[in-house]
Amino acid sequence: MAEILGLGLSHYPPLCLPDEMMSGILRATLKDPGIPAEAKDPQNWPAAMRAEWSDDQGTKAAAVHRELLVAEFRKVRKALDDFAPDVVLIWGDDQYENFKEDVIPPFTVLAYEDMDIFPWRHAQGSSMMAGKPNAWGEGPDKHYRLRGRRDIARHLVGGLIESGFDMSYAYKPLHHESLAHAFTNAILYLDYDRVGWDHPTIAVPINCYGRKVISARGFMTNIRSELDFDPPGPSPARCMAMGAATARILRASPWRVAVVASSSWSHAFLCDSTWRLRPDTPADRELYRALREHDYGTWRANTTEHFEDAGQQELLNWCPLLGAMEELGARLEWSTFTGTDVFNSNKVFAVYETK
Ligand SMILES: [Fe+2]
Repeated sequence: MAEILGLGLSHYPPLCLPDEMMSGILRATLKDPGIPAEAKDPQNWPAAMRAEWSDDQGTKAAAVHRELLVAEFRKVRKALDDFAPDVVLIWGDDQYENFKEDVIPPFTVLAYEDMDIFPWRHAQGSSMMAGKPNAWGEGPDKHYRLRGRRDIARHLVGGLIESGFDMSYAYKPLHHESLAHAFTNAILYLDYDRVGWDHPTIAVPINCYGRKVISARGFMTNIRSELDFDPPGPSPARCMAMGAATARILRASPWRVAVVASSSWSHAFLCDSTWRLRPDTPADRELYRALREHDYGTWRANTTEHFEDAGQQELLNWCPLLGAMEELGARLEWSTFTGTDVFNSNKVFAVYETK
């Protein structure tokens, strides 16, 4: 009989880097000539941010941040392995990696066959890791044979189309040679201890970056850069509805499916109200409260503009999970909020009861 397990995690790219490089996004932001000197001066930062930055640009704090995150990944991995899914479905963003000027779909089911993913050899296509050392000391030959489940992917696409979601799908990559970092990093971190990854996996990219997906190539720009904005991505409510429809289809299927939201929450480099120096933690805390209290109305009431103002673009990856859990009436089993000022984004982990 079908059962569904809901999980949420981060795919924070700098966790791939050694500790002394983890604060690299903030260091790059501090070079932005458009940000006033007073805002850049650590004397004017909140005390918690100064403490993280310390006298070593965050290297000691990075070790602590890593330890917290790795412990959460181990807990999520255990929940996943105990559940023994037929397939793992991951919602994640495509940051100008597989989808570029020739097409930007709002949602896509990647109905791939088995494929080899090379996290470091293909790093120039995404993940900020090109030419950099990784925390495991792995070389370009490191790869996973990622198993697909095209039958389940096709079933899901068909069901979504029949329920009013005109879903895109793909049988092979377009620009990225394997998978965008939202998916690859989720696997790299769930397999932090390198025991392997044998769960068949279906990636479902979402256009989280909307107006900045092509104009900013889904990443950092200088704050004064004038961008020729693209159209927006799908709304939070639409992403929740897509997740709810996904849950209905999978609940009526024969498969055990783990559905995974892959992303950190507010991102400093997207948040103009903090001069892009730290994430919008009050906005994240409010949505975390709503997640803890199963207050789905607060999530659904968010607009694209809310998410953009708070640098929460990637929370669109969590919206399908929230929509699916609401649809199933699943309660949260546990969750954690790992806050930071220096390491770009707050990270939330969540495991829901099986439904
Ligand atoms: Fe991302």
